[in-house]
Amino acid sequence: MTEEIHAAFYPGKPNLVPVLMLHGTGGDESDLLPIATFLFPEHPKLGIRGRVKQNGSNRYFIRREDGTFDLDNLNQETDWLLTAIQQETKRYRLDADQLIVLGFSNGANIAAYAWLNRSTPFKTAVLLHPMMITPPVQSVDLTDFRAFATYGDVDSIVPEANFDQLMQQLTDAHATIESFKNHQSHRLTQTELMAAQTWIKKL
Ligand code: MLT
Repeated sequence: MTEEIHAAFYPGKPNLVPVLMLHGTGGDESDLLPIATFLFPEHPKLGIRGRVKQNGSNRYFIRREDGTFDLDNLNQETDWLLTAIQQETKRYRLDADQLIVLGFSNGANIAAYAWLNRSTPFKTAVLLHPMMITPPVQSVDLTDFRAFATYGDVDSIVPEANFDQLMQQLTDAHATIESFKNHQSHRLTQTELMAAQTWIKKL
């Protein structure tokens, strides 16, 4: 498994909690670094690349041509990612239980899926343009989990009802969620990042 993990580590102040960067479709272990640096300037940062490749783009799980998701692959890759997180946090001596996830799109989706369907070490997340992939198979207790999640009202990928459903699922599981809806597409904007920054200051 070791050879399959593409990870990048950027040391920061070791007394600050580490940030885990999970990229969007077509990204890699480093491409969220400018965003992570804006939001968490001095925190240590770890990026892990999704190991699925579709049409030349890195992803965390397969999305079929018809737009549906391959749930078997999603489950397999969620397990892989959690193991990779364990391995890489150990390698860089990071406290996995303290991790703050910074996920965009496909990376935010697998983080939210992992929360709702697995036991995860990370309990805090900034989810940029996430969507619900599938309803959770069993009820989970996400007490003490917290997330800031963003949505764009002209996003052609994430329907509002889907985003709302994901927020509802997380809230029903007792996570503390702050959602930020803005007039924008699936791309990141300064406005949402500044809102995320305000939320992070309250942590
Ligand atoms: C996904 O495939 O996870 C979503 O459609 C978002 C994306 O395109 O990355």
